[in-house]
Amino acid sequence: MTDHRSPGQNRRDDSTNLSDNPGFDTVLQARLSRRRLLGGGIGAAALAMIGGGLSTACAAPAAQGAAAPGRSAAKLGFSPVAKSLADVVALPDGYRHSVLYRLGDPIAAGVGEYLNNGQDDAASFAFRGGDHHDGMHYFGLGPNGKLHKNESSRGLLCLNHEAITPAYLHPNGPTVVNGVRTVADEVLREFYAHGVGIIEAFKAGDGWRYDQDSRFNRRIHTLTEMELSGPAAKTPYMVTKYSPDGSRTRGTVNNCASGNTPWGTYLTCEENWAGYFRRIAAIDNPMRTAKELTALARYSVAGNGRERWATLTPDTPDDLYGRWNAMKLGTSADGSDDYRNGPNTYGWVVEIDPFAPASTPRKRTALGRFAHEGAWLGPVRSGAPLVWYMGCDSRNEYIYKYVSNQPWNPADADGGIKAGDKYLDDGRLYVARFDADGSGQWIELGFGLGNVTPANAAYAFADQADVVLHARLAADAAGATKMDRPEWGAVNPHNGEVYMALTNTNAASRPIDQLDAANPRFYNDRKTTGQNQLGNPNGHIIRFAEASGDAGATSFTWDVFLFGARASADAQNVNISGLTDANDFSSPDGLWFSQATGVLWIETDDGAYTDVTNCMLLAAVPGTVGDGAPRTIVSTDGVTTKAVDTYVGKQPGEENLRRFLVGPKECEITGVAETPDGKTLFINIQHPGEDTRPDFATDSFGSHWPDGGLARPRSATIVITREDGGRIGI
Ligand code: FEO
Ligand code: CA
Ligand code: CA
Ligand code: CA
Repeated sequence: MTDHRSPGQNRRDDSTNLSDNPGFDTVLQARLSRRRLLGGGIGAAALAMIGGGLSTACAAPAAQGAAAPGRSAAKLGFSPVAKSLADVVALPDGYRHSVLYRLGDPIAAGVGEYLNNGQDDAASFAFRGGDHHDGMHYFGLGPNGKLHKNESSRGLLCLNHEAITPAYLHPNGPTVVNGVRTVADEVLREFYAHGVGIIEAFKAGDGWRYDQDSRFNRRIHTLTEMELSGPAAKTPYMVTKYSPDGSRTRGTVNNCASGNTPWGTYLTCEENWAGYFRRIAAIDNPMRTAKELTALARYSVAGNGRERWATLTPDTPDDLYGRWNAMKLGTSADGSDDYRNGPNTYGWVVEIDPFAPASTPRKRTALGRFAHEGAWLGPVRSGAPLVWYMGCDSRNEYIYKYVSNQPWNPADADGGIKAGDKYLDDGRLYVARFDADGSGQWIELGFGLGNVTPANAAYAFADQADVVLHARLAADAAGATKMDRPEWGAVNPHNGEVYMALTNTNAASRPIDQLDAANPRFYNDRKTTGQNQLGNPNGHIIRFAEASGDAGATSFTWDVFLFGARASADAQNVNISGLTDANDFSSPDGLWFSQATGVLWIETDDGAYTDVTNCMLLAAVPGTVGDGAPRTIVSTDGVTTKAVDTYVGKQPGEENLRRFLVGPKECEITGVAETPDGKTLFINIQHPGEDTRPDFATDSFGSHWPDGGLARPRSATIVITREDGGRIGI
């Protein structure tokens, strides 16, 4: 989600984590010594072995350009782009971009061009590009209509439409009368504008287009039927009027980042779903058990609903509006006459088979329910479990991983959603604890393990369905480490090391006395406007190396790869990574490793440094965990001074970190995919012009990107190529 919201939109990133999970000061358990892990487990010889092991499963390292010593990708080969407040996409010399797929663009035969004035037919939105483009994946498409992993000129682009900027979808913004939605067409448009888009994109001459008539084009949205699978499916927690046996639900929402599988399916992840439900606590709380209230509070299911969909009356025969009302309204004991359990059917990783356009998406409950940012596939090795890394995007939430019980069998590479049943419904969920000595532990969240039992004081777990449904509460009980808002993760294809963006936090969510080794910084990032921003407003990127290079391991070593900061900030305690005008940034969000070049792409979703620059995309050549040194960071909030010992990666310098792109006004840069040859990069520009209240009388908007003139701004996918046809970034 973004840090900057239009007036009237809800902030969903505030912490609900009231657990007293310890920081490093109080963790007393015996741990592996960082020195031993770094010296013996992940030394140079071990890294070489891991790299060799990976090379059979992952794309080979870039051949062009020598890898820098200790760095795992070719050298960056472009001049950094300057910070900018202009309403354009700025790229380095020698690069160009085109706009591929915008909000409203038609993706079925016979659907007209988007008017972009709020007058488009609501029903047509089922066949138009959705809003707020986010996580994305490119699947090469062969002539036989199947996945061709090395196809770089035609592919299925799967991307999330996370949310909407309602102001631009309707003639004059959403119609709300006395707090109530009154125009059914507007709400229908919004239902369709969320979810996922699949388009067939192809290279045509020197540009990229999508095929409006492709049989693969598809929109999945809040009305699409979904199957539930895994431990929570068909349990009493999932019973709704729509599905009394708890086997199904309708729709997906707030699809943020994404992931993929070795069998060519797409994973879309439900992030701030809780905000869409209406539940008026004063009315509903007396109807609920104490246990239910604990769960509802931990997931923030309260309020009118972000878009107030449940307020529209009269309802349709199939409860299209009322299904967003999560209050206990019926008289049944099991919830089969209302949608009190509706929120339990959201908050999951959802698997979609883009090569089977008629297939029903499946919500994979074994991966846990939280504010899912994305699900990032670890190294794929025959005979080893499959692993996905995940983050829960709210302040003070956790980093998780899922490990399949079944070892990967390459014979399942064409298995489609049936392979998902094998690997994604049967596995173990873990949560991360980052310890002060630079090591870390993965703690399994299993019913009956540790404190995840019926005897747990904060929440009495009943069974494994309860554990995956309330993974946040299970992670509290397990003593996981609260992080500074986990956003995207990325796995280095050369050595399996995992990078996770911790986008930012503030003084209210992490006061100075709650700093810990993995979240070690507190300062005032004072804007040029004079506004004080206290806490860790610029965020950082943490990374970890699994013990012995085994993604299924239960311990790891970690350090901080980068700290976001203004180049001008205090070099000792704030700009610790030594950023310069060529590469300074704030609020890292999207992370993604090019499989072709090994470049780590870093995207920002920022509200802190926006007095100086719009959001951006940077390219990094990463080193390895432990390539820097221990460091003591001294922070002050003006009253208290605190010194925290941590581990910081080697400063990248301009050689290894450069700004590659700056986006238009008030946008977030998110979503990144590439063709297997590394010569085409797809990037999403989300919600340009989101912050400024629009003036429809004068067509005055915060941005007019991408169409220019007086046009309303639109989220869009852009395509970046090099003028000489080479690989991107190197
Ligand atoms: Fe939807 Fe965490 O960004
Ligand atoms: Ca964000
Ligand atoms: Ca994000
Ligand atoms: Ca956003």
